[in-house]
Amino acid sequence: MNIIHSIEEMKAEIHEFRKKGKSIGCVPTMGSLHEGHLSLVRQSLQTTDRTVVTIFINPAQFAPGEDFEQYPRDYDRDIGLLEREGVDIVFLPDMKDIYPPGYKTYVEVHDLQERLCGLSRPTFFRGVCTIVLKLFNIITPDRAFFGQKDAQQAIILQRMVRDLNLDILIEVLPIVRDADGLALSSRNAYLKDNERKAALTLSRSLRLAEKMIAEGERSAEKIREEMIALIQSVQGTRIDYIEIVDSEELLPLETLKSRVLVSLAVFIGRTRLIDNTQIILS
Ligand code: PAF
Repeated sequence: MNIIHSIEEMKAEIHEFRKKGKSIGCVPTMGSLHEGHLSLVRQSLQTTDRTVVTIFINPAQFAPGEDFEQYPRDYDRDIGLLEREGVDIVFLPDMKDIYPPGYKTYVEVHDLQERLCGLSRPTFFRGVCTIVLKLFNIITPDRAFFGQKDAQQAIILQRMVRDLNLDILIEVLPIVRDADGLALSSRNAYLKDNERKAALTLSRSLRLAEKMIAEGERSAEKIREEMIALIQSVQGTRIDYIEIVDSEELLPLETLKSRVLVSLAVFIGRTRLIDNTQIILS
């Protein structure tokens, strides 16, 4: 496995792959890898000839006061995991090369970036789109792999790829959960034991929504009310948002129909966690 820091060296490797006619898969990450990331890596290894995993903790997607400084970093562990999976290249670019002094260019996907998580994190998706487009320009992948846990991120990146005519297939893979239902996230590392238990309320509220929908409930408000009541009954939780939206434009639904995204963000103590479920109604 090749570990590359320099953008020029990365481009040269891609050039070599292309000369040999190899297809390229890219898994962008911020490190602190878990089984969710590894499921993306395995899919890339299975569906493309060469897999590049990027590790870059992107300051542009953290607002002042968020956890950029504390975000877990364990590059040696991450590299060991990726080596074991059989990844071809780990790309760890330097901050000064990605955002050199005088850096001024950002990518925005209007409207979609302002909804759901964008309400409390107004610059988050601008940061995500900017780094992902930069990585796409360097790596020129045929396919890129993202997790359904970040549903809004995946929808926005799919729109960016479509709007900017990039020839990249975005594959979105299912959420990977612990046995008790908690969606895997690098930020779960922040949770103390009692918070870890309280965090189960996210997935439980989604299972409740799924049950109500399966039993025929179609009123978004009724489902939201039940979810809110369940979450508020658990000490140490604070709801950032719970939204039931269509999974293309992310606009709130009154009556559930076709492709529904139930999405939520909840603070467990000081840690903000997200989770979601997507339901297709006929
Ligand atoms: O999902 C993430 O880990 C990040 O938002 C991403 C896509 C790697 C961009 O920094």
